[in-house]
Amino acid sequence: MSGHAGMRRARVAIDGPAGSGKSTVARRLAERLGYVLVDTGALYRTVALAAQRGGLAWSDAEAVAALARRLVEARGIVVARGDLDPSVGGSGVRVTLEGDDVSLAIRAPEMSVGASRVSAIPAVRQALLVVQRQAGAAGGVVLEGRDIGTVVFPDAEVKFFLTASPEVRARRRWEELSARGAGVSLEDTLADVVERDRADTERPVAPLRKADDAIEIDSSESSADEVIERMARLVEDRVARLAQG
Ligand code: DC
Repeated sequence: MSGHAGMRRARVAIDGPAGSGKSTVARRLAERLGYVLVDTGALYRTVALAAQRGGLAWSDAEAVAALARRLVEARGIVVARGDLDPSVGGSGVRVTLEGDDVSLAIRAPEMSVGASRVSAIPAVRQALLVVQRQAGAAGGVVLEGRDIGTVVFPDAEVKFFLTASPEVRARRRWEELSARGAGVSLEDTLADVVERDRADTERPVAPLRKADDAIEIDSSESSADEVIERMARLVEDRVARLAQG
């Protein structure tokens, strides 16, 4: 890349648990920086949906992994770059599965469970690794996930680990679900959040953990605007320093 200050395009990793505000923050940070958003959770959700549509149990590791590999090879999962519609939920990315628009379907609470299950299968993670690395290779990207800074891009130029208390995360999730007409209780949502945290941090493959060199940001007490502003400054500082060599 030519050495024009400010022109360097970084890879920004944002990892953290469900409901930490990651999706909103990642989307708006990408918009603010003029970067592309890569929502890696959407890939796991789409594999979970494809498995369900194909009549496979999420626990059938071999069959689900074979399906994931086949989809990746055939480019059956297409995540639109830069076409974000927050009204579908999550980060707002538009996703097609073998030509069928599944942007809304992958946001169903059931697919949160399915994604969590299929993401525990090592061969599924392996298949999706290739897609994620391709999506981020050119830089100028904000990658949102669980293991971006630890596994997908351990050499990312900027790494964030976004957290919030379980209560705050459950409330946010619940408000999002309620706004979309899902009749769930706050209590059940909190139980869900706690259970998903446990599954995601205790799984043997690529468990959710903060990379040693990630900047931890607790969003419990801050507005999204404040968090995004702080992150944008940190990225801009880093990019400016890189440009200076
Ligand atoms: O961020 P999300 O809620 O869309 O993620 C759905 C599930 O996928 C979540 O249970 C964790 C898993 N996931 C993962 O294991 N690794 C990623 N990079 C992204 C998501």
